[in-house]
Amino acid sequence: MGKKTTASANKSKEKRQARKVEQRRIADGMSYVNSANKLQDLSSFCKELLVYKGNDLEVDMYIQRASQLEKPILEWAIDLTERNMKKLYETCAWGWNKERKVEEMTDDLAWYLIAKDKNGTPLAFSHFRFDMDFGEPVLYCYEVQVEAGGRRRGLGQRVLRVLEKLAQSTRMRFVRLTALTHNAGAAAFFRACGYSLDETSPALEDAAHYEILSKATVPEDGNDALSDSMKAVNVNPAQS
Ligand SMILES: CC(C)(COP(=O)(O)OP(=O)(O)OC[C@H]1O[C@@H](n2cnc3c(N)ncnc32)[C@H](O)[C@@H]1OP(=O)(O)O)[C@@H](O)C(=O)NCCC(=O)NCCS
Repeated sequence: MGKKTTASANKSKEKRQARKVEQRRIADGMSYVNSANKLQDLSSFCKELLVYKGNDLEVDMYIQRASQLEKPILEWAIDLTERNMKKLYETCAWGWNKERKVEEMTDDLAWYLIAKDKNGTPLAFSHFRFDMDFGEPVLYCYEVQVEAGGRRRGLGQRVLRVLEKLAQSTRMRFVRLTALTHNAGAAAFFRACGYSLDETSPALEDAAHYEILSKATVPEDGNDALSDSMKAVNVNPAQS
């Protein structure tokens, strides 16, 4: 055992610092997720986006936790998901298991964006969650479902814009989602809305029947979770 050289001491210091930044980044991410999940009113972050008028549609949206949804709305959301997705699930390894889907959709952590037309008829919804995913705070979009009669009028895109604004306001680093590769309409939709293959998506050679797509959040104040973590442990990003 010899004495450490200055170079190797510096290397160890860098490694320790990198570990600290990583730990801090994850701790910060978890605290953003916990804070987002404790919020009472998400609508205040995106009020201006919750009214959608265009292409012969007049839509009002609201956001609630699964536990706050009126029973008929929850039942409609489950029914729409079944109408839109059952066949697609049945034609891949997942299969359709209604019980499991209902369990997922009624989870305590599930949030809902509900869109209704001016007569109060529900037209679209998204089930989303704030969660840690591969060590990062993300807004995970579990579903975006639009009634057949309301499609190709920009409503799906508006729903995603609301999620993106919520992700920005709550410091989630991405809006991330899982899409079936044989759902061609959805693939075209997500790409048209600026989503691309996420680094956590299974490798092509794994021939998975799904892919992970995401869109990075533009930080509201120019600072992202990573640079905050660096500041917190006194690391100058320019030097690291
Ligand atoms: C996918 C879905 C959510 C899109 O909603 P939508 O309200 O019709 O989408 P928008 O009108 O906002 O579309 C925005 C753009 O996405 C693209 N797009 C949307 N649907 C598309 C489709 N079926 N085929 C090709 N491109 C499509 C287009 O570029 C469109 O712009 P354009 O109409 O000006 O050409 C809707 O078709 C749906 O609910 N499908 C069944 C459920 C589903 O597959 N959900 C996604 C997986 S959870």
